[in-house]
Amino acid sequence: MITQIEKQWYDESAENEAGHALSPSLRPAGGKPIVRFRSVRKSFGELPVLKGIDLDIYPGEKIALIGPSGSGKTTLGRMLMTLEEPTAGTILIDGEPLWAMEKNGKPVRANEKHLQKMRGKVGMVFQHFHLFPHMSVLKNVTLAPRSVLKLSKEEAEELAVAMLRKVGLEDKLHVYPSQLSGGQKQRVAIARALVMQPKIMVFDEVTSALDPELVGEVLSVIKEIAKEGQMAMLLITHEMEFAREVADRVIFGAEGLIVEEGKPEQIFTNPRSERLQAFLQRFL
Ligand SMILES: Nc1ncnc2c1ncn2[C@@H]1O[C@H](COP(=O)(O)OP(=O)(O)OP(=O)(O)O)[C@@H](O)[C@H]1O
Ligand SMILES: [Mg+2]
Repeated sequence: MITQIEKQWYDESAENEAGHALSPSLRPAGGKPIVRFRSVRKSFGELPVLKGIDLDIYPGEKIALIGPSGSGKTTLGRMLMTLEEPTAGTILIDGEPLWAMEKNGKPVRANEKHLQKMRGKVGMVFQHFHLFPHMSVLKNVTLAPRSVLKLSKEEAEELAVAMLRKVGLEDKLHVYPSQLSGGQKQRVAIARALVMQPKIMVFDEVTSALDPELVGEVLSVIKEIAKEGQMAMLLITHEMEFAREVADRVIFGAEGLIVEEGKPEQIFTNPRSERLQAFLQRFL
């Protein structure tokens, strides 16, 4: 059943369809977007960081988000993960508003229960792994399935082992984070996010804190996961080769706006805006 908030939103979005930045050639066939940002703004105090983001992400789509430091990429990812609340605009996940819910037929601000439900659809991996140092690898990965999904110990462990196998760490189940390399820690963090089976996963510069020789192992794990297909990914990255190889669509953001978006070949070989041209120059 369509909620009032959704209806209001869809009416609005139909009106705005003509002005939408994403040309039909970039829209994957079929299906409704899994994530929609509509006129999303975010300020920190007086500082406007995101100045009106319109972005649709389709199921299974791999999006690379590139752009200069301070342009608001992390803020965008954190908003999806409910770590930041938009100052204005709407974010829908799976057709449902993230920060609003319906109460007695009226839209009201989301409560913690709603946020928790919505958060279950999103996974995030950060630059600094944020593993629990006093817990084994297996414990780190089973914690959320046990406490949030209420799985039994056996079910959670079975799932965790499968995910740790996927990231090539099935032999490290009982090891503590301090005994792992940075690349291994990051792979545990990826397994920990995967185990929740999110519809979309945000990877925020997940290799930028790693020694150069460890970057490759993490990127190849992400590439393998990307090939499986069903989960959408928002890859915030400075690794242009990686973005080119993995992404279905590349988005270039600067100063709080989406400046240009397109297929990787177009963005990297034929950038239209001067800003993107200047940005890419730095990576040559
Ligand atoms: N919690 C906060 N309080 C105040 N300002 C913030 C906060 N979080 C981010 N900012 C500011 O918002 C702007 C955008 O930050 P953000 O981290 O989203 O940029 P970014 O594109 O991810 O940059 P980088 O490539 O360096 O990671 C910056 O000016 C930053 O200082
Ligand atoms: Mg960032």
